[in-house]
Formats: sequence, C-alpha cells, structure tokens
Amino acid sequence: MKAPPETGFFSTPLARQGNIIFSGVQQQDYSAMIWLKRRDRLERSQQKCIAVFALVCCFAVLVALIFSAVDVWGEDEDGVTEENCSKNCRIVLVENIPGELSFNPNSSTHLPLAMGLNHLLDQAKLSVEIVSPYWALTSTDQGSRLYSSYQGQYLFQRLLSLKSRGVKLKIVSDQPNSIELKSMSDRYAEVRYVNMTALTRGRLLSSFWVVDRKHIYIGSAGMNWKALSKLKELGVVVYDCSCLALDLHRIFSFYWQLQYRDYIPSIWSKRVTAVFSRDEPLQLRLNNTDASAYVSTSPELFCPKGRSRDLDAIRHVIREAKRFIYISVTDYLPLVNRSFRGSPIIRYWSPIDEMLREAAVLREVKVRLLISLWTRTHPLTFNFMTSMQALCTGLPFCSIEVRFYRGKEHMGGFQHRINENKFMVTDNTAYIGNLDWVGSELAFNAGAGLVIQEPENQREGQDSIVQQLTAAFERDWFSPYTISLLSGSTTLQESQHGSQKLQALKTKPESREHE
Ligand SMILES: *[C@@H]1O[C@H](CO)[C@@H](O)[C@H](O)[C@H]1NC(C)=O
Ligand SMILES: *[C@@H]1O[C@H](CO)[C@@H](O)[C@H](O)[C@H]1NC(C)=O
Ligand SMILES: *[C@@H]1O[C@H](CO)[C@@H](O)[C@H](O)[C@H]1NC(C)=O
Ligand SMILES: *[C@@H]1O[C@H](CO)[C@@H](O)[C@H](O)[C@H]1NC(C)=O
Ligand SMILES: *[C@@H]1O[C@H](CO)[C@@H](O)[C@H](O)[C@H]1NC(C)=O
Repeated sequence: MKAPPETGFFSTPLARQGNIIFSGVQQQDYSAMIWLKRRDRLERSQQKCIAVFALVCCFAVLVALIFSAVDVWGEDEDGVTEENCSKNCRIVLVENIPGELSFNPNSSTHLPLAMGLNHLLDQAKLSVEIVSPYWALTSTDQGSRLYSSYQGQYLFQRLLSLKSRGVKLKIVSDQPNSIELKSMSDRYAEVRYVNMTALTRGRLLSSFWVVDRKHIYIGSAGMNWKALSKLKELGVVVYDCSCLALDLHRIFSFYWQLQYRDYIPSIWSKRVTAVFSRDEPLQLRLNNTDASAYVSTSPELFCPKGRSRDLDAIRHVIREAKRFIYISVTDYLPLVNRSFRGSPIIRYWSPIDEMLREAAVLREVKVRLLISLWTRTHPLTFNFMTSMQALCTGLPFCSIEVRFYRGKEHMGGFQHRINENKFMVTDNTAYIGNLDWVGSELAFNAGAGLVIQEPENQREGQDSIVQQLTAAFERDWFSPYTISLLSGSTTLQESQHGSQKLQALKTKPESREHE
C-alpha cells in the first residue's frame, strides 16, 4: 500500500516539524510573555504619563479659563468691607430746573444739580469715578448763550483740576469717539471704553458718581452742559455712605473690567458681585431716619450674582405701594424692538404695564404717570396710555391718570426744557434711575437705579426723601407745563414731526429710535 509510507514519510517530518513548531511556539510564548509584561509596564507608565499630561493640560486650560472668564484683578476697596462700612448717611435731592421755568413760589426748591456735583468734588480726597452716557460739558451748540453753558465749562475745568489735588479721576463710557473724553484722558483722566454694541447692542446709559468710595450721586443727568442748564433733571447725592458707595463702586468696577471684552464673563470675582439687593437691602440711617436701600442695574446680562435687576426693583416698588404710585419719566412705552436678521421685530413688553394695572384695579392704588412730550415721543405712547386710563372706567376706587409734561408753551421749541426725570415715588419708597421705562431700553441698555424705602412710622412729621420726591412730583404735576393725555395727542398730531411719525406708523410698524 502506498498510503502508509506516505503517511510515514509525512509523519516523521511532521512530528519533527511539530516539535520545532512547538518549541518555537514555546519560545514565542515566552518572549510574548516577556513582551507582554514589558508592554504592560510600558503601558502603565505610558498611562501614568498620559494621566499626568492630561492633568497638566486640564490645569493649564483651567488657569487659562479662569484668567479669561474671571475678573481676577478686582479693584482695591480701601479696606472697607460690608461689615465696617458707614451706614449713617445724609441724602440731598438735587435738581436742575431750567431758568425759564417758574413754579409756584411756595413749592419747595432743592439744591441745584450743578452745586451738588461741585460740592461732591469739594469733598473728593482720593478718587472720583464717573459713568455718563454723554460727555458734552464744553460743547456749545448753535444758539446756546454763553451763560447757559457756563456751568458745564466750569465742571469740566474742576474735573481736570483734580490732578493738582492728587485725586484720581476714572471714567467709563461707551463713546470711543468722544472728543471731550479724548481731551480728558490726554490731560488727566483714566478712561475706559465698554463696547456695548458687542455686548448687548444697546448703550451705556448709566449715570452716577462714586467719590472716595464714600459719597455718591445718581440720577437722570449725564455730563452734558444742557443737563446743568436747559433740561429738567433730578437726582440724589448721598454723603458719608460707604456702604452704598461700595455697592455702586462694584457696578463701576464691573464696567471697568469690560474694557476690550466682547462677551460677558460667566464667573466673576467677589469684587463686582452685589453687596446688597432687593432681598437683602442695606439697613441705614438717612438724615437720622431709619431706611433701607439697595442699588439695581440693567440689563440682566450685567447683573452678576446677587445683583437686583432694575426691572425687578421697579416691579417690587410697585407691588409694595399701598396708597399711591407717582412716576415721572421722559418716555414710557411697553414695547421691545430687536432687529433679527436685519429686520426689526417689535414685541409687546408687559412687565411694568401689568404691575401698574394690577396695583390700580386690584389694590386700588392711585397711579399717576407724568411723561414728556417731545420730538421723540413715540406716537403709540398715546394708545398705550389711553388704554391704561380707560381701565378704570366704572371702577369707583380705581385711578390711573396720565399727563404730559411740556416745557414750553409754543410748539416750535418743545424739544427744549424736556423733563428728563426718571423716578418713581410711592407712599413708602423712592426709586431713582437712569433709564426710561421703555422695553428696549430696560432690556438692552445699561443703567443703574437706587431704591430707598422708609418705614411709615418713621416719616411722621419728618421731611424725608420720599416726602421730598412726592412734593417734587406734585409740583410738576400741578404746574402749568403739564397737559392732559388728549391734548397731548392732538399736539403731537399737529406738529409736523408727529404727523410724519404717525404716517410712518401707518405704512410700516416703526419702533422707538435710540439716540
Ligand atoms: C474694615 O475691616 C477691614 C478688614 O476687616 C480693615 O482692613 C479695614 O481697615 C476696616 N476699615 C475701617 C474703615 O475700619
Ligand atoms: C403761598 O403761601 C402763602 C401763605 O403760606 C399763601 O397765602 C399764598 O396764597 C401761596 N401762594 C400760592 C401761589 O399758592
Ligand atoms: C465693537 O464691537 C463690534 C462688534 O463686535 C465691532 O464691530 C466694533 O468695531 C467694536 N467697536 C470698537 C470701538 O472696538
Ligand atoms: C428698532 O427698529 C428700527 C426700525 O423700525 C431699527 O432701525 C432699529 O435698529 C431697531 N432697534 C433695535 C435695537 O433693533
Ligand atoms: C438731609 O440733611 C441735609 C443737611 O444736613 C439737608 O440739606 C437735606 O435736605 C436733608 N435731606 C432730607 C431728605 O431731609
């Protein structure tokens, strides 16, 4: 048979081969084992390496993130903390009443704004920090007489003369092209710019001073010579109040840190977060009267942890009113206008409207709105205000009244002597802000506000800030410069500008222009 030798022939070498293969395999196994062990070790040390590397990477990324997202270098706060800041303060109402306006001689007069600001500069020993929507103290428009611009010129010179006293001057603005700011920074001031276009596409309309982290001014007037002569402005100066100044200074620091940024960092250092808020207001003494106070800001994006929004402050003040709510603003319009892919989108913006309606109809709180009638008054203001007034029809205890403030009898110059006031006063609280009550303004523009609440029993027989503001409001309300809603509407329609605007409204929905 051929087969066995064949198998035999094949079997021997196969066995040998098998042996060789076997030992080969054994060897391979062995070396594989060693290799595996080595690889194991290698892998482990590699893993260690990778882990360490990853950790280092993470750390580096974290550090980078922290440095980019957090404002690490907060401003020095001169050792004042919320525990030992001063709470025994003095408050003074400051106003600019254009010379041509004459009110009832019996009505109270307050410290002129220009004097208040100059007095603040007298007090300054270390630093003056200013935020203002405009810088036009020295500009003289056509038709302005030397005298009316004098106060602005003087204030400008006094700000520059801080240098000789070694007082720091810091300014934040969103106007990089301002000639006046350029000249100020060339001569002395430290100026920083906030690019509001990149942040919210709004404007920096905040208007306040912090002097020595101790005294403050906040109000409707910016650094404009007209605000010291031709426009009707209102604000407050608070002296010896490092607690409030500390909080307002933090808002200033927040703006200060926004230079060169085109986004709002998500994490902030303690140096810019709120000290006091709506839920935890500062308990203080104002002219020997107990009061509570806090500052609020807009827009929401600019409210770091704990900071109260202007809108929430306003809503809270309205909600807490028991007997009356008096509001004096240049513009009131419950609309938000945002451009979306090039075309404007306008929405009804109800938060303040609904609070006022609720207060008047359900709680029978008397509401009075004093709005300016001027070239930029949006025609829809009349519609919204008419609907507001109509709400009380047939309700005996409901009262909503709207009036327009118009500085001049004649139509020709009615953009002058505008009432720029931006405040609200109720039977127990005052709110003094920087922004008009227009949806777009509160949603996108930066502003600040001061809320001062005074307990009822404290105010008996005392001339408190709430009472002073109430008196100022009533003086304006009953002055010859106010007109009813209806005649305001007719006036605007008669004016050329108004009819143009109305025409534009009929053809396409238009919204409020920003300055
Ligand atoms: C407030 O307290 C801080 C530290 O707690 C201290 O450094 C500072 O000097 C104090 N300031 C005043 C005005 O007492
Ligand atoms: C001013 O007050 C006096 C007395 O207090 C009063 O006689 C006078 O009528 C008042 N004037 C006006 C314009 O109200
Ligand atoms: C502000 O930001 C906008 C948009 O990011 C940019 O176009 C503009 O140039 C910036 N302005 C300045 C003065 O840097
Ligand atoms: C508001 O609307 C006008 C046109 O109606 C537009 O020019 C303007 O850019 C809008 N404003 C905003 C903030 O979108
Ligand atoms: C507080 O006192 C100052 C003088 O110390 C005074 O000028 C001011 O009118 C007072 N303010 C109020 C609200 O009474």
